[in-house]
Amino acid sequence: MIGESVGDSLTARPLVLYVDDERANRVVFEQSLGADFRIQSVADATAALAVLDTQEVAVLVTDMRMPGMSGEELLRIAKERKPSTIRMVVTAYADVDPILRAINEGLVARYIIKPWIRAELVQVLRWAIEAWTFSRDSMALHARLMETERLATLGSIAGMLVHDLKQPLMSLLINVDHLRELGKAAPTLQDALARAPLPEAERVRLGLLVDDLDPLTTDLRTSAMHLSSLIDGLRELSRPCDKSANLQAADPLPIVRHAMAVCQELVMSAHASIDYEGPCVLPRVRMSATELTQVLINLVQNSAQAVAARGTPQGKVSIVARTESNMVELCVRDDGVGMGPEVLGRVGTPFFTTRAEGTGLGLAQCQRLIGSAGGRFRIESEPGIGTTVTIVLPVAA
Ligand SMILES: Nc1ncnc2c1ncn2[C@@H]1O[C@H](COP(=O)(O)OP(=O)(O)OP(=O)(O)O)[C@@H](O)[C@H]1O
Ligand SMILES: [Mg+2]
Repeated sequence: MIGESVGDSLTARPLVLYVDDERANRVVFEQSLGADFRIQSVADATAALAVLDTQEVAVLVTDMRMPGMSGEELLRIAKERKPSTIRMVVTAYADVDPILRAINEGLVARYIIKPWIRAELVQVLRWAIEAWTFSRDSMALHARLMETERLATLGSIAGMLVHDLKQPLMSLLINVDHLRELGKAAPTLQDALARAPLPEAERVRLGLLVDDLDPLTTDLRTSAMHLSSLIDGLRELSRPCDKSANLQAADPLPIVRHAMAVCQELVMSAHASIDYEGPCVLPRVRMSATELTQVLINLVQNSAQAVAARGTPQGKVSIVARTESNMVELCVRDDGVGMGPEVLGRVGTPFFTTRAEGTGLGLAQCQRLIGSAGGRFRIESEPGIGTTVTIVLPVAA
């Protein structure tokens, strides 16, 4: 058997699997074709099925009459399990019946009678590999088209929702403004509470709530305004491309603080803490405030979810900032579950998620926004250690 390591199979040439119970036939097949093709040969159908199950086989070439499972049965199972593998028969028996049956049932693409001629077999195998490669590539193309289709559908659904979302948001903003008025009256309310005939514990509880009113309503208002800009952004998507976003600039620090406040509850429910490390003043960056808010909230949420998934107490999420020449670097760092190379290679692909309730659009959106602002986006992660997402944005002129 011609050796092959599992690692090879990703980069190596397409694999031809040859099944024949006679050792001499296998040796001849390998020796005369091994220079042109990557060949693996096995002695029976059971071994062939094991290879089909564990490796990507481009062409299956089998003998018909073998002890145990026959070639015909093997072809039938292979067709069921691995329909894209091209199936061929090389046999010494020119019985017309099984040949016709196999061809009519679509079990084989070619039937070759022994003794075969090397040049002919080379040509047939080349054709089979080309056919297999073509169908594999067109399947990948098909999958990409389906994904584009899903995104387009999602886009049109979003378009329909935008209109309906604006209405409840407006009423939310009006009510939040009412509540803010109440927040401003906190000293009066505290006075009234001090005189009210209430049990002491109740007085303390209400007093704390009154104290929270002002910061809470301020946060609520900022979130509602953010939502409103997002909805406007969605509207923009359905219009011709507008370059004005590139001229926008934002002060990153208030946005960092807002993202931390919005995610505070999620971070706390993960038994983690969140902090900011960096200068007290940062230069303005060339990105709209709405988009930077969206990016940071997505990243902090991902970090909080990763810390929660790890399940250890005292997890940590940090936003670390630094400036370098005319760039601002913001890192969102966590000591959550981290990602292995398999996941890391796929994050940012729309709809890729490992979370049951995730949509898999968060990082795709972040990458798109940072890219269109002329920035850079990088993810580093290690399973069991944590993740750092770094965004680098140009300073606004
Ligand atoms: N900080 C992180 N630590 C570990 N894994 C992460 C982290 N950030 C992202 N991931 C992995 O990347 C996947 C994709 O993240 P992404 O934000 O794009 O989608 P999501 O969080 O699953 O869903 P949503 O669209 O709701 O954000 C996640 O499901 C998770 O497996
Ligand atoms: Mg996410």
